[in-house]
Amino acid sequence: MKITSATYIGSHPRHEQCPKDNRHEYAFIGRSNVGKSSLINALTERRKLALTSATPGKTMCINHFLINEQWYLVDLPGYGYAQRGKKEMEKLKAMISGYVLEREQLTCLFVLIDIRHAPQKVDLAFLHFLGSHGVPFAIVFTKADKLAASKVKPAVEKYMDTLREEWEELPPYFITSATSKMGREELLSYIEDINKNA
Ligand code: GTP
Ligand code: MG
Repeated sequence: MKITSATYIGSHPRHEQCPKDNRHEYAFIGRSNVGKSSLINALTERRKLALTSATPGKTMCINHFLINEQWYLVDLPGYGYAQRGKKEMEKLKAMISGYVLEREQLTCLFVLIDIRHAPQKVDLAFLHFLGSHGVPFAIVFTKADKLAASKVKPAVEKYMDTLREEWEELPPYFITSATSKMGREELLSYIEDINKNA
């Protein structure tokens, strides 16, 4: 799919305030610093569309980007970032679960996992939460450029083996790098296919 336009529409703390039209939304979630905002920039080939930072906790709202005047990419805050204090954590949790569970336009949630790390409890618990609520999701491994090429596949297989312990059917997954643009075409084709058939 060719991206002909990518426009920042707005940031909202609550899902009820998000755009009222019925366009499909593809949202990015995962731990703080996993590379959600960077991946949105890589997909759209716009360096500064979504704000990124080396410090975790950059994205603090639900951010909508209108793509090709047809569908939205949505950048969400990270979860599992304890340094913010309990109150702030609770606020973010409510923002994320409100969006994920109530937003009817949400067509697929991409759950980002840093390919370099062994499966983390907070991610597995989040996937469990999505499964128990029937939220459609796919897994996106990020930062593949940071692993030696020979280590990428074993890391992914190890992760999927862990998921197999809980899941009968495994979700679709993508291996990406915002730096090298690995996985970009695959992700965009996946979105295009859903848009066509929906
Ligand atoms: P929060 O909004 O804070 O939750 O973080 P985020 O998940 O949006 O992460 P962000 O895109 O801001 O990236 C965090 C850091 O990781 C930045 O320093 C990015 O440059 C870096 N980064 C993101 N994706 C990649 C990647 O694919 N490869 C490499 N090498 N670095 C990446
Ligand atoms: Mg971000």
